[in-house]
Amino acid sequence: MRVFVTGSTGWIGTAAVDDLLRAGHEVLGLARSDAAARTLEQKGAIALRGDLDDLDALRRGSAESDAVVHLANKHDWSNPAESNRAERAAVQAIADALVGTDHPFVLASGLLRPGHEGLALETDDNPAVGAESMRGGSENLALEYLDHGVRSIALRFAPSVHGVRDHGFIASIVAVAQRTGVSGYVGDGSTAWSAVHRSDAAQLVRLAVEQAPAGARLHAVAEERVTSKAIAEAIGEVLNLPAVSIDPGDADTHFGFIGRFFGTEMTGSSAATRDDYHWVPSGPTLLSDIGSGAYTP
Ligand SMILES: NC(=O)c1ccc[n+]([C@@H]2O[C@H](COP(=O)([O-])OP(=O)(O)OC[C@H]3O[C@@H](n4cnc5c(N)ncnc54)[C@H](OP(=O)(O)O)[C@@H]3O)[C@@H](O)[C@H]2O)c1
Repeated sequence: MRVFVTGSTGWIGTAAVDDLLRAGHEVLGLARSDAAARTLEQKGAIALRGDLDDLDALRRGSAESDAVVHLANKHDWSNPAESNRAERAAVQAIADALVGTDHPFVLASGLLRPGHEGLALETDDNPAVGAESMRGGSENLALEYLDHGVRSIALRFAPSVHGVRDHGFIASIVAVAQRTGVSGYVGDGSTAWSAVHRSDAAQLVRLAVEQAPAGARLHAVAEERVTSKAIAEAIGEVLNLPAVSIDPGDADTHFGFIGRFFGTEMTGSSAATRDDYHWVPSGPTLLSDIGSGAYTP
């Protein structure tokens, strides 16, 4: 299959492109710089120059491929409204180009469910609807195209897709610990995140492209619940800093943007995903990655 991948040189995208190429697929990767284009070409992928705001490039890449994996995101935490706008516009452009093709359209999503009790399930609807909601409501927008001949597939990643050189949420928490001299957790530290190793997440991207039916919702979750206290203690141990509770009222000041997420439950089950796709995550756990210095080289 020829697979168009946005975010193809990002954290998950780099590993997903490698996995797709290893499995014999052809990859057309969106590249927003010469360096990104070179990186793709050196590994045997084809680069399509353009960025997330270049909707013509997104439409062209989608129309010229047998499947699309959408992983690019501006991740501008100082201007989430702009990230959400761009995400929604990109999803719409890709889906418009796929109308009537029945081609797989795998898009990245998350597990955040404000006010939700317990583990999110694959059968749970995503509560984010509309342009003003999380990720611009992109998961539901993509699923609206099911009736228009697009095989939309939501791939909900655990909030920590971890590994050596991860620059995501855990890296931000580590940076706060290094800056403040304490490894903080919010309140009693009982809220938790799910986690998955990058290699397992990348493999699930490929399985979704190859096997998932229209409307499928997959959970890239290897560990269901790792508490924020356990994460802070592991970071504290490796940095030789005390793990301390941060009052929820002080979380934004202490942690910055990541405070909004660190004290929030973002957990899901992947039981259905494992059964349906015979996916068996086998990478290191989050605490073992933290403990072995993946975030503190
Ligand atoms: N990592 C996680 O723990 C996690 C958890 C839940 C959900 N997700 C979601 O999974 C997806 C992939 O995450 P990730 O961790 O791989 O993110 P990442 O490492 O930050 O990569 C983001 C990708 O988007 C590209 N990008 C950013 N702004 C762009 C723009 N204006 N035009 C074109 N491309 C642009 C980047 O391009 P360059 O390579 O050129 O920088 C990069 O390839 C995202 O939607 C993310 O929200 C990730």
